[in-house]
Amino acid sequence: MALLIASSSRAEEFAAFARALDPHLDVRVAPDLGNVAQIEHALVWQPPKGLLKTLPNLRLIVSVGAGVDALLDDPDLPGVPMVRFVDADLTGRMREYVALHVLYHHRRMSEFRELQARKVWKYLAEPAAHEVRVGLMGLGVLGSAAARALQHFGYRLRGWTRSRKSLDGIACYAGDAELDAFLGETDILIALLPLTGATRGILNRRLFAKLSRHGRDARLPGPVLINAGRGGLQVDADVLASLEAGELYAASLDVFEAEPLPHSSPLWSHPRVLVTPHNAAESAPAPIVRYALKQMAAVRRGEPLRNVVDRAQGY
Ligand code: GLV
Repeated sequence: MALLIASSSRAEEFAAFARALDPHLDVRVAPDLGNVAQIEHALVWQPPKGLLKTLPNLRLIVSVGAGVDALLDDPDLPGVPMVRFVDADLTGRMREYVALHVLYHHRRMSEFRELQARKVWKYLAEPAAHEVRVGLMGLGVLGSAAARALQHFGYRLRGWTRSRKSLDGIACYAGDAELDAFLGETDILIALLPLTGATRGILNRRLFAKLSRHGRDARLPGPVLINAGRGGLQVDADVLASLEAGELYAASLDVFEAEPLPHSSPLWSHPRVLVTPHNAAESAPAPIVRYALKQMAAVRRGEPLRNVVDRAQGY
């Protein structure tokens, strides 16, 4: 029984952890597959399409990422159980990212940075947290943890999901019918949706135009977008157009339509855009390997798996 690790840049690091945690485990790193008939488990992040199909005895696919859109994109994906990465370490990182960027824009830091660059001492009005409405698209493990973190500051929280959720202290909206109402009451929009056929391109100019402008002088200068989900959710050019048109005041983007973000993208140098290289919440080697070994043990013992991907739903 062997574990195959196929992940862009850190496969060797993951393999070293796996060997340290279980010295008896036969760990292979793609593209050195060895005898493919011995591979029963795969730990993967954006593996080459068709790779998993070549493993005739595969029993489990563990996604290195919380999002599995790249895996589901493989037309030859074997029909074996597949689990998403869900872990306190990853969730904590996402919580930090969201809190950091909400606070940054709420406290108008882009403008203070611009003023500092020009050595200008200028007072800017800032709303209190309880006057700022933060809307989360997606209230899964990551979205709800981010919401809980923001609750400590007193933000007014709302969430939008495909199917209705109920969370304490969060106004919950669901489905297409309630999307406009949700947007109309949102000053800072956080995207933590899975990328599926239904969500691709959802963050577009039409949507940005529906974000709240209420109290624009007294509160934030305009709506803010924070996308820590997937680049495919957004239309990069629309983010720029909305920033130029004042439909967005600022944005924090961890993900992009094309990654790495091309040098030619004006997003790199926009004064109100924070660009991070898809590292809002990394899957750190020790937690992801421990998680994979736990799920593999469950397969061996015939126990139920946790966080199994629902292929029909796409996450
Ligand atoms: C990272 O993007 C993840 O899916 O965890």
